[in-house]
Amino acid sequence: MNIKELKDKAFKELANVKNSADLENFKNKYLSRNGEISSILRSLKDLPINERKKIGPEVNQLRVEIQGAFENKRKNIQTTNYKLQTTQLDITAPGIKIPHGHLHPITLTLRKIEEIFQSMGFKIIEGFDIETEYYSFDALNIPQNHPARDAWNTFWLKTKPEKLVLRPHTSPMQIRFMEKNNPPFRIIVPGRCFRYEATDASHSHTFYQLEGLMVDRHISIANFKAVIEQFLKKLFGEDVKMRMRPSYYPFVEPGFDIEMKYPASPPASPNRGESLGGSSGKWLEIMGAGMVHPNVFKYSGYVPDEWQGFAFGIGIDRIAMLKYKINDIRLLYSNDLKFLNQF
Ligand code: PHE
Repeated sequence: MNIKELKDKAFKELANVKNSADLENFKNKYLSRNGEISSILRSLKDLPINERKKIGPEVNQLRVEIQGAFENKRKNIQTTNYKLQTTQLDITAPGIKIPHGHLHPITLTLRKIEEIFQSMGFKIIEGFDIETEYYSFDALNIPQNHPARDAWNTFWLKTKPEKLVLRPHTSPMQIRFMEKNNPPFRIIVPGRCFRYEATDASHSHTFYQLEGLMVDRHISIANFKAVIEQFLKKLFGEDVKMRMRPSYYPFVEPGFDIEMKYPASPPASPNRGESLGGSSGKWLEIMGAGMVHPNVFKYSGYVPDEWQGFAFGIGIDRIAMLKYKINDIRLLYSNDLKFLNQF
């Protein structure tokens, strides 16, 4: 066989080498002591001296070429093997979990509260984050310069001529709803409220309230008490205790604050504790309420003598904090996943 043919054959075979076993075979066939090149070199001794001088270097040159190509191939196969080993796909390994979103504790609390009131026939209405001075105060029987306005530390917007505010409570919707609807009705109005206050563990400039309003011909404090008692029992369990204490809000008469005692104590966890008094048997104020003031009916276009009703405003953050034993309201607004992922 001539050298050219041998070279072509060897390179063709090397191109087909796919793995370590092929490599080994190739090496044995061409490059080993009994391989084809060695046997050609051995056979040179039978040739005349001038041919030997010509072919000898050619064969040696061929051996160097094949050896070089062989080494390259070996390196290629080694890297491929390494890659295969390190990137092997283990189909039995557990998959990567895609994190699930979940609801914020305020949303969870609000949905539960809405569900309870809906089960008692209340309809859900929504209001506006930005309100007029009229609906926030005047129509609620809180005239300008009345000292009661100080109770609502209000963010006033720089608007003219109408004075707008970030609503400091959800009560403006009492008027807006009654202007457009006739009794009898029961509504709740959940929403975000804002007050110009320093923040601490129990105060936030932004918070949530839920207004309630029920109007009919013969509505009494007894009806109010029954509704709220039912609400608290459904939310906190049968053992919950409530009490009503006299209080003052210009848009109700009489007015009261509702306090509750929460006997069962859910397990504490990081950032949740006792400081809100959850299980310590202390009375906690959770809402303001009262019988709708005749002037509020008048402002809404009703004839006051014909209608009676009760109104209440629940602090949703407060309820969420009690329900989940959260001891700092700021946790609800700081978006810390270590905290939020607990819900
Ligand atoms: N709007 C009152 C507040 O923000 C709460 C309230 C609502 C009181 C309805 C009485 C009746 O403090």
